[in-house]
Amino acid sequence: HITKGSVVFDNVSFAYPESEEDVVKDINFQVAPGEKLAVIGSTGAGKTSLFQLIPRLYDPTKGKVSVDGSPLSDYSLDELRGSIGYVPQSPLLFTGSVTDNIAWGKDQATTEEIMQAAKDAQIHDTIMQLDDQYETRVGQKGVNLSGGQKQRISIARALIRKPKILMLDDSTSALDLATESRLLDAIDTYQCTMLIITQKITTAMRADRILLMDEGKLLAIGTHTELLASSALYRKIVES
Ligand code: CTP
Ligand code: MG
Repeated sequence: HITKGSVVFDNVSFAYPESEEDVVKDINFQVAPGEKLAVIGSTGAGKTSLFQLIPRLYDPTKGKVSVDGSPLSDYSLDELRGSIGYVPQSPLLFTGSVTDNIAWGKDQATTEEIMQAAKDAQIHDTIMQLDDQYETRVGQKGVNLSGGQKQRISIARALIRKPKILMLDDSTSALDLATESRLLDAIDTYQCTMLIITQKITTAMRADRILLMDEGKLLAIGTHTELLASSALYRKIVES
C-alpha cells in the first residue's frame, strides 16, 4: 500500500507510442513523503508527459518510476489511482450533479465529505450560488462552468480521496492570487506529497523545491534560492 507518498524517477525517458522522439529525457529526481515540488518550464517542455507517468497513464520507454520504494508495476492500477490524486490540465466533468462529479469513484462519500472537499478546493461558495446548488447538473448537458470552476471541482474530486500524492497540472492557473493562496493553505492540511505544475513563480516559490524542465530534460532542481544561483534559464523566468 502507498502510505508515505515518496516518488523516485530513475533514468526515466518517455516517447508517446505513435512517436520516435523522447519528450521526457533521462530524468532523475526524488520527492520525499510530504514534500511539495513545483514543476516549471515553457510550453511543450514535457511537464504533463512527466506527470502522466506517475498514475501510469503511460509507462516510461526507459528507466523506472517508484512510489514508496516499489516500482509502479508492483501496485494495481486501482491502488495507484486511489492513492494518487491526479488533476489533469484540462479536467473533464461528466453529465451529472456537482455531487456526483466530486464523489466520482468514491461511492460511499458523505455530504459532509463532499462539502469539505469543495470548501478546501475553494469552489463551495460558487456551488451554493448555482440554481440547484450541489444537485445542479454540470458537464456536457449541464450548466456552463468556467475553466477555473471545472478545475476546482476536479481538485475537490482529488481531495475527497485524501490522496497520499496530489498532482496538480496547472490547476490553479485560472485562480486569482488570494484564492490560490487559500487553496494551497487548505491543501497543506492534507499532509500529502504535492507535485504542482505551474507557470507562476509565486506559486512555485510556495513549494519546498522547484524542478525546471526544458525540452524534455531536467535542467535544475532545488529551492528558489538555489535555482537563482545555479540556473540562467530560471533567472530569466523569474525576471520575465
Ligand atoms: N506530445 C505528443 N503527444 C501527445 C502529447 C504531447 O507528442 N499526446 C508532445 C508535445 O508536442 C510536446 C511534448 O510532447 O512536444 C511535451 O508535451 P507536454 O508534456 O504536454 O508539455 P507541457 O510542458 O505540459 O506543455 P504545456 O505547458 O503547454 O502544458
Ligand atoms: Mg502540460
